[in-house]
Amino acid sequence: MKKVVLAYSGGLDTSCIVKWLTDKGYEVVCFVADLGQGLGKGEDLDAIEERALAAGATKVYIKDLQDEFVEDFIIPALKANAVYEGKYLLATALGRPLIAKYLVDIAHKEKAIAIAHGCTGKGNEQVRFEVTAEELDAKLEILAPVRVWEFKSREEEIEYARENGIPIDVTKKKPYSIDRNIWGISIESGVLENLEQEPPEDAYMITSSPSGQSTYPKYIEVYFEKGVPKRIDGRAYKLKTLISHLNEIGGLYGVGRSDLVENRLVGIKSREIYEAPAATILHIAHKELENLVLDRELAHFKEIIALKYSELVYYGLWYSALKDALDGFVNSTQKYVTGTIRLKLFKGNCVAVGRKSKNSLYKKELSTYGKEDKFDQKLAEGFIKLWGMPYKR
Ligand code: ARG
Repeated sequence: MKKVVLAYSGGLDTSCIVKWLTDKGYEVVCFVADLGQGLGKGEDLDAIEERALAAGATKVYIKDLQDEFVEDFIIPALKANAVYEGKYLLATALGRPLIAKYLVDIAHKEKAIAIAHGCTGKGNEQVRFEVTAEELDAKLEILAPVRVWEFKSREEEIEYARENGIPIDVTKKKPYSIDRNIWGISIESGVLENLEQEPPEDAYMITSSPSGQSTYPKYIEVYFEKGVPKRIDGRAYKLKTLISHLNEIGGLYGVGRSDLVENRLVGIKSREIYEAPAATILHIAHKELENLVLDRELAHFKEIIALKYSELVYYGLWYSALKDALDGFVNSTQKYVTGTIRLKLFKGNCVAVGRKSKNSLYKKELSTYGKEDKFDQKLAEGFIKLWGMPYKR
């Protein structure tokens, strides 16, 4: 029988896909990637596996990919200061190439002829999955049932699941479409499609309302070594734990929300809200440290790179020669990025309030207006004359 490996989430769409593909004559192997979406342990995972099998899968792979996700995807994007359209820290986008890589690996192991996903034909996800998979193995067929199947609504899918004994949890009506991993949450659809409306408080899952916060700010110190966060308040953490910890603290102070009308790859604009407390804190701290240790030209050039890097991630071009080359550049800049940034979290804001680095290029004796000033102001006159010379007529 033709075998297909499906990226399985345990939700309604992918559960229906298992049955739908089986009816089309495929043997379906499910793959669940744990990127820190809160799958939980033991029982939860058992429940997902059971659901996949009940829908007709012959085998289920569940892999905890969090460490690989953090080390090989999140950290490079952090070093690059990759932010899409100024607001989106790319949590969803960074996860896709990793999932696609494992889909291809498992397809090889299982001697499958195809891989499948549950993305719609309007989103970025399909592009990221498919471009990555094609790059890694162009011979694998790619199936995207949601793009072609007969169901026109969620109700029809629920009906199909009922008829076919697919165990799904449809007790609560889902008001939003949500994608979550350790780097952040993406939330769209429902009332969010009305651009004039402020996102209702219930749309947010991991940040508490900034307006309902205590009157006291929270200070934290983040220590980086060569661009990689290592310690919080002097305590060393493994990367995954460090991020989870910052998600918790940041979430409590309402840090990391954003509301964006973004340009999708498929040519449409869509409104999405994001929650990314740890990512926000780390991006702000990392950039602040770079401001201290990178010289002006390097810092400015790196901003251009950051823009391009964020596009490549968003566009599904993680495994591209340009992204590789940019990583080379970014990594070479990070050798200076060691030091500590003190941040103040308060009512949804995160601001840097203190900086320290052995590689700092800040020289107080040059910038001070106090009496210890060593800056030779007489030199400025000549400098300005030469600097402006090319522009005089
Ligand atoms: N717009 C984001 C991206 O393209 C997230 C997409 C997934 N969002 C969701 N709510 N399922 O990366």
